[in-house]
This record gives sequence, structure tokens and C-alpha cells, in this order.
Amino acid sequence: MKKILAMILAGAMMLSMGACSNEAPAEKPAETPAAPSAPAETPAAPATPAAPSAEGKTVGVAMPTQSSERWINDGANMKAQLEALGYEVELQYAEDDVQMQVSQIENMIASGVDCLVIASIDSVALTGVEAQAKEAGIPIIAYDRLLMETDAVSYYASFDNEGVGRAIGEYIETAKDLANATEPLTIEFFMGSPDDNNAVLLYNGVMKVLQPYLDNGTLVCKSGRTSFEETCILRWSQETAQKNCEDYLAGFYADEDLDICCTAFDGFAYGCRSALEGAGYKLGENWPLITGQDAELMATKNIISGYQTMSIAKDTRTLAEKCVTMVNAVLTGAEPEINDTTTYDNGVFVVPSYLCTPVAVDVNNYQEVLVDTGYYTADQLA
Ligand code: BGC
Repeated sequence: MKKILAMILAGAMMLSMGACSNEAPAEKPAETPAAPSAPAETPAAPATPAAPSAEGKTVGVAMPTQSSERWINDGANMKAQLEALGYEVELQYAEDDVQMQVSQIENMIASGVDCLVIASIDSVALTGVEAQAKEAGIPIIAYDRLLMETDAVSYYASFDNEGVGRAIGEYIETAKDLANATEPLTIEFFMGSPDDNNAVLLYNGVMKVLQPYLDNGTLVCKSGRTSFEETCILRWSQETAQKNCEDYLAGFYADEDLDICCTAFDGFAYGCRSALEGAGYKLGENWPLITGQDAELMATKNIISGYQTMSIAKDTRTLAEKCVTMVNAVLTGAEPEINDTTTYDNGVFVVPSYLCTPVAVDVNNYQEVLVDTGYYTADQLA
């Protein structure tokens, strides 16, 4: 309760400071009549209270899974950057088990963390624990995945998720020169988890670019599965992507090759690779264009060898950096960096967000995007 009061007061102070700064300075004294000047006998009273610091504060970081490399990097970056500022960090992974994530967050609340950073597994499954955190005065930052249907979240740090989808669509459009294509090309879609808000945004971005080509017959999806509902894959499962791809190849591509696997995740690209190898597709002969997301180390190696065509590089160091400014904002009253206040409506309110920029990466620019920036060393990719 004390924390809530302190936050409300801090918020009110910031608001009134903001309001004052837009007004003529001459009006200020008249507006603050009740501020008494310090009595002469009060010695050394600081003019402004010392800024709250990270000292002794703990941040609970709840991550979805260690089964994909990006989240391991996310957790490590967050921990390192928060610790560098003097925070203690409690980092937990829930291995894509929703109930385990709920329990981990409950335990963090019980252990008295000062702030929660959550990358959810199911973005609507946490409303109960989020309400508990709010009740306990613990602010929450949504990390990469928006927390839906809650008023307990203060800020959201992510990438431009529709932008990720557009970049995938535009890559296919350019690489296959769809605008000038004379022969139809076949395509299948492997989209993200329906309980992850990012997945539908990514799908929308892909379709903003590719739908016209499906409509005019330049792209042909022989399974007929083009809607989000028909192509989404629960919990971003690589195994399901592989199974879907095997089924598509067996059911619809006996007489004609599949030209494009439009996938929303490097894990799906690995699944498609296995399915294609199993069906006898060969590099340099009939290997399709395969997209992905995250530019994981294995995906980047596959891009170099040709088994994956492209991915979306998301610099998790930058994401962690932006998220840390948000943690600092809620805990020390500093200003967070925000660059979007309109897009991310979680069903209760539009969550103030910082969106990092995704970058399409392929064999032509991986050196510049991933190696020159220090994301991977040349040795790791050798
Ligand atoms: C993230 C992606 C990631 C996917 C699967 C999404 O929420 O934004 O970067 O590929 O989850 O882990």
C-alpha cells in the first residue's frame, strides 16, 4: 500500500511538474502558495530529496522458455544490465508451462521483489498474478510480449511486431520479384502462437504485403491454409511446424515443389528443413525460400549454408537496455524512453511502449548486421 501511495504521489508530482513546465515561469510562485520556506533554524535540510537508487532493490524477471536461444540471451542481457545498475535480479524460466510461470511470479511477489519484468507464455493467463502484484504495489513491465487484459502493467518494451511481419513479406516479394512474376509460386504459412499478441501482429504484417499476390494468383497456397487461425502454431512449437510441413508436402505437393515456407520463427524454419529433407528436397535444386525470426545462431549458420534464406535480427541487447530504462523509471522516478503511445492496446488501455527496429538478415548482410555489431563473433559462425 505504501508503495502504491508513493507511486501515486510521485506520479502526481511528475504530472504537476510537467504541467508547470508548460507555463510561464512568473505564474509558478502564485500556484504554489503552500510551499513554506525552510525555517532558518532547520540546518542542512536538502532542498530536494535524494533521488531513489537501485540499492537493495530486487527485480524479478520471468522468461518463457530456454528452449529457444533468443530467450536465453534476453534473460542474460536483462540480468547483466540490471546488475550493472546495482539491482539484484531473480531470473526464472518457465519452459513454456503457463502454470509454472504463474507460480514463479507468485513466488517473486511473496519474496518481495520491487519490480517485475514479464515475458509471458500466455499473455492473458497472468491477470490473477498481475492483480496480486498491483495490490502489493509491485510495478510490472511487459517484456517483448504484451500482457493482455490487465491494468497492472506500466510499460511495454518490444520490437515493431507488425514491422517484423512486413519485413518477412517484403523479403519474399523482392527475392521472388513477385511484382513481375510470370509463373505462379507455391507458398505455405507457419505462424506464431495464438496466445502471443505478437503472433497476430506479425501475421497482419506478412499479409499486408503478400495478400495481393495470393489474391491475383501470383502466390498459390495449395493447402488453402492462409488465415491466422489455420496457420498459427501453439507455443511456437518446432515439432508442430515440422509435422504441418510434412503433412503439406505429402498432401499437396506430390506433383509440384513447394517454393516458399513463410515461417514466423527460426524454430519453425528448422522444423521445415527437417520435413523438406525427409521429403527429398535438395539444396541447389529445389530447396525453397525459407523465412524465420530471431536470427538465432543456428539459423544464421543455416543462412550461411543455404538451408534457411533469411531471418529477422532482433538485437536483444537493445531491447534489454530499453526495458531497463523502464524498470528505472518505475523504481527511481527516472524518465523511460517511449516511442509509441498508440499501437499496443491490451484490451484495458494503450500501454506506453518502446519499439525497437527489426532488421531482415540474409547471406548478403549477416556480416554487417550480426558480426560487425558484435552480436555474434566470426568464430561462433565458423
Ligand atoms: C517473439 C519472437 C520469438 C517468438 C518465439 C515472440 O513473442 O517476439 O521473437 O521468435 O516469440 O519465441
